[in-house]
Amino acid sequence: MQYGYFDEKNKEYLITKPNTPAPWANYLGSPEYGAIISGNAGGYSFVKSGANGRHIRYHFNSMDEPGRYIYVRDLEKGDYWSGSWQPVGKDLDQYKSVCHHGTGYTNIVSDYDNIRTESLYYVPLNKTYEVWRLKVRNNGSQARKLVLFGYVEFTNHNNYEQDNVNLQYTLFISRTYYKNNMILQSINENVPEDQCWRFFGAAGAEVTAYDGDRDTFLGDYRSYGNPSSVENGQCANSLNYNTNSCGALQINVELQPGEEKEVVFLLGQYDEEGASEILGQYKDLSVVDKELEELKAYWHSKLNRFQVQTPSDNLNNMINTWNAYQCFITFIWSRAASFQYCGLRNGLGYRDTVQDIQGIIHLDHEMALERLRLMISAQVSIGGGLPLVKFDHNPGHEGTPDDPEYVQETGHPHYRADDALWLFPTVIKYLKESGNWGFTDEVIPYSDHGEDTVYEHLRQALQFSLDRMGVHGMPVGLYADWNDCLRLGAKGESLFVAFQLYMGFNVFMEIAQNKNKPDDVQWAQGLLDELDTNIQKHAWENDQFVRGFTEDNYTVGSWENDEARIWLNPQSWAVLSGAARPDQARLSMDKVYNNLRTEYGTMLCYPPFKEYGMPVARMVLFNASTKENAGIFSQPQGWLILAETMIGNGDRAFEYFLDCSPASMNDKAEIRKLEPYVHGQFVESKDSPYQGRAHVHWLTGTASTVMVSLVEGIMGVQPQFDGLCINPCVPSDWKDFSMVREFRGKKLNIQVENKNGVQKGVSHIILNGKEIQGHLIPAADMEAENTVRVIMG
Ligand code: GLC
Repeated sequence: MQYGYFDEKNKEYLITKPNTPAPWANYLGSPEYGAIISGNAGGYSFVKSGANGRHIRYHFNSMDEPGRYIYVRDLEKGDYWSGSWQPVGKDLDQYKSVCHHGTGYTNIVSDYDNIRTESLYYVPLNKTYEVWRLKVRNNGSQARKLVLFGYVEFTNHNNYEQDNVNLQYTLFISRTYYKNNMILQSINENVPEDQCWRFFGAAGAEVTAYDGDRDTFLGDYRSYGNPSSVENGQCANSLNYNTNSCGALQINVELQPGEEKEVVFLLGQYDEEGASEILGQYKDLSVVDKELEELKAYWHSKLNRFQVQTPSDNLNNMINTWNAYQCFITFIWSRAASFQYCGLRNGLGYRDTVQDIQGIIHLDHEMALERLRLMISAQVSIGGGLPLVKFDHNPGHEGTPDDPEYVQETGHPHYRADDALWLFPTVIKYLKESGNWGFTDEVIPYSDHGEDTVYEHLRQALQFSLDRMGVHGMPVGLYADWNDCLRLGAKGESLFVAFQLYMGFNVFMEIAQNKNKPDDVQWAQGLLDELDTNIQKHAWENDQFVRGFTEDNYTVGSWENDEARIWLNPQSWAVLSGAARPDQARLSMDKVYNNLRTEYGTMLCYPPFKEYGMPVARMVLFNASTKENAGIFSQPQGWLILAETMIGNGDRAFEYFLDCSPASMNDKAEIRKLEPYVHGQFVESKDSPYQGRAHVHWLTGTASTVMVSLVEGIMGVQPQFDGLCINPCVPSDWKDFSMVREFRGKKLNIQVENKNGVQKGVSHIILNGKEIQGHLIPAADMEAENTVRVIMG
């Protein structure tokens, strides 16, 4: 069933049926002031930290409530409803609504009983408060008297856990006040003064009554769907004292036929003075339209740096807007706050963050650079990464993952084998996009002590693995590799890490070559050859690569096993790293296709673990076909697509894209459940009774892996040190398609012609009328704006 559609032109997703099978969310603001909102206005906001700066409530894992509610009551008829379908939940035969989720804003338009409301929610650029602009219009032929209520439920404490759990304390430390069209809440906590105040105010209309006490506003044994004050048509002018706080503001309006009125609600963590100043800025309500335009311009100008027009709307929607936007959201928010992540992770996961960076490099490499520096400064001097980079990360002064204090503070014991190796694909991508070669010489501290150039940091990342090799001459798996559930320990070996290291050597050599360091090239080449020999000798079985070896020499992912016989990642990574020979690539990738593919994506391994399990295969704890236990983990789908494009299979790569693209499920939303415009962390696979159901929305490394596979793999746009390579790998029935790409300040309008219907292979390129053999456009030949014809076949 379909609940909405993509509006590509406006870069929006429109939810036309509000009873979506899960809350379909959007992100507003930035971590300085963050807000999450569903199509039914459910969600929460916070300042700086989802865990410690939470100022409005949301009940996780529940009914998508409460949220940023606007109620409308007809004074004469006594009937009432809400600007979003929920929480009142009128009969959908009479209540129509379209929710526009856009880039940094959400606008919910509803029609009920001849009254149209438009509730626009956003956080103005670089501001730390949020705006809800309500437009209400009488589309009928009778004059109407309406009562409007803006409602928000404050937390009683900035810390999410304290607010929910420590009730014998937090219920008794907050008060609300009413002043000048605002409810103000104060919290008596020993925290900086600016964190003790919240406000909810109205501009553009006079508040006629209010409630600052949630329990009075809602009434006993009622819900958000039928609050007492709304049902009475009158707030009680209550203020909380040892109960729960809220901000409820009542505004009475009269509307003639055809008349429209506007009111702006404002919410944030400010005291009376700060709040009054903000309210003052909205005296002229047209400021809202201006701020909305600024917000759109900010986001759209980023997204417009790479746009495609292909025969697939699904792909266009993903590359041009939604996958790209999800990459930014994931990059900015990491795993901090969503409807699943409650904000308690107080830092950035190393591997997740380094991978997230990859998803935005082609759109904003400057934004990427700052985060990349941070992550390099979270590399320990012995070369491994800190599993969690705390928000208050202090380079040069952090403990190491083996220190008990670090473990206690972060809850993350021991090194992961993969963390620092993620720097290789990310750093090289950054260098090639930006052309900022100087970055390799930039000196960055280590997390514990000492400092080095970026180049030496990379060498240390290799060294970390080289210092931890197992009996087959492959890197050990330590506490985890990419797979959080695979614990191969200090002696068991991981093929995933072996392929990462393989890629690491290749990247290091490329950079060393560029820096004219032949000794380093030779050093890395020798080690690469050795690793290559060991992989070939120990890890290839007939038609597949194995996944690893345990300490007691059990082979994970061997075709002889009863469980988890074949794994996806070793096959795709053998190709990505360059370790697979052409015949191995063909055989193993075919095996993946024939054994792991389902209509909803490709499984991580198969069959699921049932007997073999702890302590090595922790995924046995998950139900079969779920998450790492043979679920369709979404992140590896991107690696799979990219690997197929590397071996020239455009048809298959595209098929894999369609399998995993959220947009493919737009008309099967009742099966997928999650938003059809964003990837989730995983999809249940074939041994689950709910095959095809997706989970853990928005904040997942899938955004970046799939994005990279689409941009570099399918569209084939790959920056090089000296130019831009264009080498698409597409379905054979794509006869022509186009792209617009900005590259190092130059603009390229690219038209690709594929008359012979090949999947891969460029015969020549015509740059501004001049023919170039091959597929590299030299940076030196680019003008400010370029016309590029790419001839395939
Ligand atoms: C989750 C984690 C990520 C890990 C993956 C596979 O997505 O955030 O770090 O790589 O699971 O276990």
